[in-house]
Amino acid sequence: MKKTSVVSRSGRFSGGPAVNVAQFTESISFDWRLWRHDILGSIAHATMLQKAGLLSRNDLRAIVRGLEVIGRKIETGKFHWDPELEDVHMNIEAALTRSVPTGAKLHTGRSRNDQVALDMRLWLRDEIAALSSEVRSLQRVLVSLGQREIAVVIPGYTHLQRAQPVYLAHHLLAYVEMLERDYQRLQESFARTNVCPLGSGAIAGSTLPLRREVVAKLLGFVDAQGRPRLTRNSMDAVSDRDFAIEFCSIAALLAIHLSRLGEDLVLWASTEFGFIKIADAYTTGSSLMPQKRNPDVAELMRGKSGRVVGNLVSLLTLLKGLPLTYNRDLQEDKERLFDTVDTVRATVRISAAMLQHTKINRKTCLAAASDPALLATDLADYLVRKGMPFRQAHHRVGLLVALAERTGKPLNQLSLAEFQSTEKRFAKDALKVLNLHRALAQRGIPGAPGTSQVRKQLARWKQLPD
Ligand code: ARG
Repeated sequence: MKKTSVVSRSGRFSGGPAVNVAQFTESISFDWRLWRHDILGSIAHATMLQKAGLLSRNDLRAIVRGLEVIGRKIETGKFHWDPELEDVHMNIEAALTRSVPTGAKLHTGRSRNDQVALDMRLWLRDEIAALSSEVRSLQRVLVSLGQREIAVVIPGYTHLQRAQPVYLAHHLLAYVEMLERDYQRLQESFARTNVCPLGSGAIAGSTLPLRREVVAKLLGFVDAQGRPRLTRNSMDAVSDRDFAIEFCSIAALLAIHLSRLGEDLVLWASTEFGFIKIADAYTTGSSLMPQKRNPDVAELMRGKSGRVVGNLVSLLTLLKGLPLTYNRDLQEDKERLFDTVDTVRATVRISAAMLQHTKINRKTCLAAASDPALLATDLADYLVRKGMPFRQAHHRVGLLVALAERTGKPLNQLSLAEFQSTEKRFAKDALKVLNLHRALAQRGIPGAPGTSQVRKQLARWKQLPD
């Protein structure tokens, strides 16, 4: 009770909250993670208070020193977090005030409502930067795997049925493209997160001459020209969690991309496909079946996306119908946001590591991609070149495929006479169409998996900026 009175429970209260209320409402068990940013924010706020004439130089010096000491204590695990003090903000402020009495001036013109919004934006800015560079690393791993296995061709699938042959690199680069969009979205969201809410107070700003632009500049809330970026409406600023939701939605999409990659890897690692071998260190055995090698990491790339999507839905639901402005409900945002950051970062990182320890079974890939039926469309294109309307060409090749099935021969084993029995315009050169390498060389238009295009894309991605 004595402790809480330092910062939170004013003269209005006759006692502390009931024990179970404190337990129910505390957030220190998870929001302690914001400590570094809370201290940075407080130092900037105090610096501004001094410039605004609300704090003496000596007071400022004592407060900054006190906060730095607390920071070192937290860093070395010597700080005692007290659940009775509810959250990270009050724990730090109470500790400061205990050691530096003038710390009682720190909260001038500030509320925990704008303070927590500030801390979260500061924290998320760092996390966006960290996640972005992890996404880049994963892209690089995919590009170099594609480069290393540049000659490998696999069937591309639609409806999980073999469709047309593609370079493995083309398949991998599809994920590089998805990750690039995720990266871009992260960068764009950074700009919207990078706005300073401090100075909004509890809801209605302050009567004191706070210099918000000073705090913003100190904390790097600036645009490309170095101009401070301030929230423009105090009510919006203390109740807005768009930045967190936007991040969680970007993260959810990223997690979905990783989930799809995970699923491809699970399939490819199966005996049925046999395209890849994931290193032992990234697979697990079965407690019962001695022969098993399970792709658990790839499965969890898929599985983890569930909670990330769940976190997004939790946050959306949290805000739905919440009246302006701050409500304690908002405290529930943190665990969802933290879990999203932790889960997505870990998934991106382990995916990259696993792919670096994955071997491609080149022969199995080639055998699967060499099924001449995968080039049936190329045969239709052949007839199109001879002037036949595509619909008709499609039908003719369909007849040819049916003939191959009936006679139990692959397409490329049919005789010219058999070809011509379905369509006269098939000449000797029709058989050449079924050559895999020629077929891949033919796919030269932008975005196609042709040899020159894939090489070009690989070269482009190799220049990936940081
Ligand atoms: N721990 C709180 C949260 O995370 C901080 C803000 C509390 N504000 C208040 N008026 N009780 O939302």
